[in-house]
Amino acid sequence: MLHRRAKGKTKWKGHSRTLGASDFPSRALLPTVRRAGLSVAWAATKLAGMKRSFSAEEPELMDQPQPVTRELEIDLENLRKINRYFGSHSLLRPFLRRWFEPGRTFRVLDLCTASGDLPRMMIDWARSRGIALKIDAVEMNASILEIARRRSAAYPEINFIHADALHFAESLTYDLVHCSLALHHFSEENATRLLRHMRELSHDKVLASDLERSAVTQLSVWLLTACVFREPMTRHDGRLSARRAFSFWEFAQLADAAGWENFEHRRFFPARQAMWMSVREEAPVVEVASPALDFAT
Ligand SMILES: C[S@@+](CC[C@H](N)C(=O)[O-])C[C@H]1O[C@@H](n2cnc3c(N)ncnc32)[C@H](O)[C@@H]1O
Repeated sequence: MLHRRAKGKTKWKGHSRTLGASDFPSRALLPTVRRAGLSVAWAATKLAGMKRSFSAEEPELMDQPQPVTRELEIDLENLRKINRYFGSHSLLRPFLRRWFEPGRTFRVLDLCTASGDLPRMMIDWARSRGIALKIDAVEMNASILEIARRRSAAYPEINFIHADALHFAESLTYDLVHCSLALHHFSEENATRLLRHMRELSHDKVLASDLERSAVTQLSVWLLTACVFREPMTRHDGRLSARRAFSFWEFAQLADAAGWENFEHRRFFPARQAMWMSVREEAPVVEVASPALDFAT
């Protein structure tokens, strides 16, 4: 039986029965309910379609010049965990499987490498299959580079280079030019320049991946940095990254503006997107079925 209480609240007591019109809020409440519903819908729409907010005056904390600190080390450790368990490894593996094979040495360039965990992951993957990779890993922040070098002592295949990715120059082109989780650090103009530069530096494959800006991404990053990766630098940079990431449509627009042709573009779980192309030939069809579930290999 449904009892109406003095303050207008309701509670269930006893067995259920069919609800009648008298069980619903009075008509007087309907405008308030409708207004509240519209406000929620408006907020959700705003959040989902929110414009990218980027200001060069407000760099991520990790991008600021700084000595090697405990905070920076922890932040990079968090990034390594995020890469391992939240998408970067599973996104990358199908491309490695498709593009590399034993028989010769492949030259790879990783731009904006941070502590170099993705190059190390690539080398681990290649070593276990008898595939030879040589990787140049470019990073602009000297302290981050110092941490990357220290962590990569057992990886002579990786050559760390202190440079701005936008101006990095090398006489030989690469089999693969890769850039992950970094385009959101740039203005639209510089992100376009970076994509164009990636293409110039490659004689074969180019792969750019990043977060996709959406309400779901913002909520997921907010929750992840509220519950798991709670350190101030990770929380600040993670949430800023989610706001600065490009939407799916904007990401493709950048590639168009950078002169990428016949590129492929798709979403990857969770909250990621990637674009890739072949400079040398028609863009090949890359089988990347369910890569997000590929945590085990
Ligand atoms: C969020 S981290 C991503 C690192 C790594 N690629 C990954 O996927 O984990 C972005 C990195 O890009 C670096 N970075 C930002 N702007 C850069 C630039 N213009 N040239 C080189 N590195 C840059 C930052 O210092 C930072 O280490």
